[in-house]
Amino acid sequence: MEKEIVMSGIRPTGYLHLGNYFGAVRNYVRMQEAYSCFFMVADLHSLTTHPDTRELKTNVQRVLAENIACGLDPEKATLYCQSHVFETSELYLYLNMLAYKGELEKTVTFKEKVRQHPENVNAGLLTYPVLQTADIILHRASYVPVGKDQEQHLEMARNFANRFNHRYGDVFPEPKAFNFGEELVKVPSLDGTGKMSKSENQNATLYLNDSDDQIRNKLKKAKTDSGPTEPGTPKPDYIENLFSLMSLVSDESTVQHFETAYNDCTIRYGDMKKQLGEDMVKFISPIREKAEVIQHDQAYLKQIMEMGAEKARKSARETMQIVREVMGLNYF
Ligand code: TRP
Repeated sequence: MEKEIVMSGIRPTGYLHLGNYFGAVRNYVRMQEAYSCFFMVADLHSLTTHPDTRELKTNVQRVLAENIACGLDPEKATLYCQSHVFETSELYLYLNMLAYKGELEKTVTFKEKVRQHPENVNAGLLTYPVLQTADIILHRASYVPVGKDQEQHLEMARNFANRFNHRYGDVFPEPKAFNFGEELVKVPSLDGTGKMSKSENQNATLYLNDSDDQIRNKLKKAKTDSGPTEPGTPKPDYIENLFSLMSLVSDESTVQHFETAYNDCTIRYGDMKKQLGEDMVKFISPIREKAEVIQHDQAYLKQIMEMGAEKARKSARETMQIVREVMGLNYF
């Protein structure tokens, strides 16, 4: 049986952090075994907000290197760069004729961008979800592993795909949000407010390229208090968060040790944070080191980008052949 198709995009802005790893990349790594996966670096999307392209190449290469260091295998999944697949732009153009100004203006991410950058409300920004739809349906993907923040874009992708199908013929499956395993893991930030994120408090986020000392220091500074004084005291959020982080990177027995210490009120948060720091270093440093090696290997990066582009374009060409045909654009 043919494997089902999974597609997702990663914006080449910012450094990968622990939240990206447990929320997204780890899922991709698992999916590459069971599905036919297309993972793409969304460099064209980044032009909607970052028109200066001087750092684009470095950023694209870094994203690729980091994702491969986390376990994405360019031999198993199709890893490619959006701008290398010209068919994306063609499909984007056709889909733009089926997308209405009103619905695009209602998109939450668009309204946010307008608020943040009123001086750069370009048409690409307005049609961002159309380009994203083109990315997905270009491979006739059924599943799109994305976080909650992309749900609206995905709903729009379903609308555009269905609209195309109704007007011209049944070409595209409905792309559905999808994640491996049950719940999406949320990685809490170290200051006890929300989850780790690229843009917010950098000291509360653990990046996959943080040095060992940076990791230790960030954990050392994580918020705690003087500890429980009575058995049965519920954990405050920021303590619960430390336990959550610990359960992601430490041994079961280590977590158990500190759970017991919490419950009998003998816990010393300094010790716990120290242990967590060491386990976090053990987890992050191999990824960081691997990413560094890859990032400096221009020949390897070129080779995987070419291989990815070739595989992605093959899939794209097949779809576009059908698209032009059902649209009646095949005049010769
Ligand atoms: N918009 C997505 C984000 O901000 C990135 C993206 C671009 C994407 N194209 C995609 C995600 C296609 C899934 C499928 O994270």
